[in-house]
Amino acid sequence: MSHGLVTMSYIVAMILFILSLSGLSNQETARKGNYYGMLGMAIAIVATALSALVSSYEILIIALLIGGLIGTKAALTVEMTQMPELVAIMHSLVGVAAVLVGYANFMDDSAGLEGVEKTIHEVEIYVGILIGAITFSGSVIAFGKLSGRLGGKPLLLPNRHFLNLGLLISAILLGHYFLNSTETSGIFPKLITQLESTFNLSHETSSWFLNHFEALKNGTFPLFLMTIVALVFGIHMVMAIGGADMPVVVSMLNSYSGWAAAATGFMLSNDLLIVTGALVGSSGAILSYIMCRAMNRHFLSVIAGGFGTSSGGKAAEIVGDVQSITVEETAQLLLSAKNIMIIPGYGMAVAQAQHTVYEMTKLLRGKGKKVGFGIHPVAGRMPGHMNVLLAEAKVPYDIVYEMDEINDDWGEVDVSIVIGANDIVNPSALTDPNSPIAGMPVIECWKGETTIVMKRSMASGYAGVGNPLFVMENTRMLFGDANATLQAVLKALNG
Ligand code: TAP
Repeated sequence: MSHGLVTMSYIVAMILFILSLSGLSNQETARKGNYYGMLGMAIAIVATALSALVSSYEILIIALLIGGLIGTKAALTVEMTQMPELVAIMHSLVGVAAVLVGYANFMDDSAGLEGVEKTIHEVEIYVGILIGAITFSGSVIAFGKLSGRLGGKPLLLPNRHFLNLGLLISAILLGHYFLNSTETSGIFPKLITQLESTFNLSHETSSWFLNHFEALKNGTFPLFLMTIVALVFGIHMVMAIGGADMPVVVSMLNSYSGWAAAATGFMLSNDLLIVTGALVGSSGAILSYIMCRAMNRHFLSVIAGGFGTSSGGKAAEIVGDVQSITVEETAQLLLSAKNIMIIPGYGMAVAQAQHTVYEMTKLLRGKGKKVGFGIHPVAGRMPGHMNVLLAEAKVPYDIVYEMDEINDDWGEVDVSIVIGANDIVNPSALTDPNSPIAGMPVIECWKGETTIVMKRSMASGYAGVGNPLFVMENTRMLFGDANATLQAVLKALNG
């Protein structure tokens, strides 16, 4: 394929990616947005494969087949509730790709660059590996936390901010060493001699290092050390984040993976990868900002880690009597209500109750009731989780409201049904400064006349905090799996 045609295809792919992002910003156009993205990616892959950039088609085809098979299997088998962890592990792959491309570029001398161009290329390599390694280890930890393999509790090491600062300064210093050591031969022995005097290494130890590693290309040592520093930083950053703030981490790692891809694009001199990476990086950053606003957190504080934790005091104990309700009583309450608001949460995704919820909604609307859905920005385990489920069940978009649209109107709501939600309807976020979710805006359903909470037990939600909503005067608990309970309510409503 000629260079001009490749460039043309890349421009078309870029336009399709931009259309895809704009389509994805709205539920009604999201499907179209996905198609644009798929078409753009297909054009990008074909153009890259046919460009002169590819030297071995065998390797490319084998890689495409392996990657395609793994991707198809993952997409076909993954449960909707496992989607966030799948996204996290996918981000880690972008990170590891950036690291590998960085090392491959570093070892490849064929470009024969000199002077400023060489320095710029080395900065690209250094920054690419740095962002890639942080994205990789951070995403692996996020995968562990989202899949429940690692606890949601934040790891709060003493002086953790100094540790972060130390890691940042080491990365900068190592960058300085890296750039100098590739210019000057013999920097490695100098570094070893310095380490020998600083840490009182024995002469045998330093000679061992010199003998084994001197043959390596100049710059390998600082680059390798920086990779370890970046991996530790990624692990520490995500480990220090509390369960409730994981939404910000998911979108932040999404953004990092974009910047890692852009850095890879610079290393490979691939304009499409640079633009695509920048699109993902900046849209992820905007999403992180939106998530931070939804959680009432400062972006920089979340990145520094240790948020999602209380201010130090003990969160208040939940005291009071739980009032449960039966399926029949629930049906009666719904039949006598005029205005009903449904608040779905993670439990609706677990129970796959969205279809039954919509059946019930249709029935109640058929009886002249006003039924709406109230969506919290961080409900579930990934951005837009509830919207995706409701769209799958074909719930009309015009009865789905955002939290801000409904929080002032609770005086008009007769019955609210909380389906498998917990943290997003927890009043202690507003009243208890020691709560790990203190300050997070929540859906204030308790201001309506009656709230029915559907869940299996009194267990806490993702943030691990007790919920005073469950013992409020106007709350009734309907225990059981959300889907089974809703089916029973539907049956009772049908008489
Ligand atoms: P959660 O606070 O996690 O509460 C979900 C509730 O669903 C649980 O208390 C559980 O109680 C119930 N449940 C589970 N399976 C159920 C089933 N089969 N039937 C009925 N109920 C079931 O969810 P939420 O209110 O949606 O809040 C989301 C939380 O996740 C927030 O803390 C948020 O910060 C965090 N988070 C969000 C994201 C994004 S981007 N949205 C990402 C990571 C973390 P039982 O066990 O008693 O049934």
